[in-house]
Amino acid sequence: MRSISADGDAAVMPNQNSPAISVEKDASVTRDDDPDVALTRQACDDSDGAFIPTRREALASAAALSAGAFVATGATARPSPAGSAAPAESRLAGTTLTIRPTINGHELSVAIDTRSSLLDLLRERLGLTGAKKGCDHGQCGACTVHVDGRRVVSCLTLAAKVDGRKVTTIEGLSDGKTLHPMQQAFIDHDALQCGYCTPGQIMAAVACVREGNATTRGDIRRSMSGNICRCGAYVGIIAAIEDVVAQGGEV
Ligand code: FES
Ligand code: FES
Repeated sequence: MRSISADGDAAVMPNQNSPAISVEKDASVTRDDDPDVALTRQACDDSDGAFIPTRREALASAAALSAGAFVATGATARPSPAGSAAPAESRLAGTTLTIRPTINGHELSVAIDTRSSLLDLLRERLGLTGAKKGCDHGQCGACTVHVDGRRVVSCLTLAAKVDGRKVTTIEGLSDGKTLHPMQQAFIDHDALQCGYCTPGQIMAAVACVREGNATTRGDIRRSMSGNICRCGAYVGIIAAIEDVVAQGGEV
């Protein structure tokens, strides 16, 4: 079991060799000397050893600077009412909880902020960036993953809820380098354009077939209605699902 502290930014990609078709490769990982295979995200260094921030780190720094400027300005322009001036640190501090989910077949022990969403745990802490943050409001389906075999929108699922449960993301869907039939069908039917919605579409499509909701085209449309594709690849997506069902529907 791998342990990850609440404040560490170590990224874990349990199945980084997965050929999942829509996994972003924006977090490099490497194995350290730990025989338990602790995977550690590496900072980017140039040939002189100087630190080069990643795009995400640069954005985070800019956001932190902006927030600091706002707080400083706000404190001058609008003082807090008497009795409500809690320090900024205490308002921001959350409660830490250690959870033990099994993610893509890997048992993990990870300390989380109890307010974290499952999507943020996957993307920001574990480096599993296949599930996408589209709306962050449960309306687009881009963040769809499976919890104990059932699809959920991970942006509206608290990370604390997956303690002791099995989570499968797009990175864990394939069998090693062999694509899952639904992944292959999406490729065969050209069921994507930009690909942003595709991990969520595939996870929802697998659930759609497993749930027995893929018997008619109308059923498929209804079952997949929570997954939005702004590129309009719906014709290919439905064809891919029908193809998998025609092949026996073993997903
Ligand atoms: S990001 Fe979760 S439903 Fe849109
Ligand atoms: S393929 Fe671009 S949003 Fe669906």
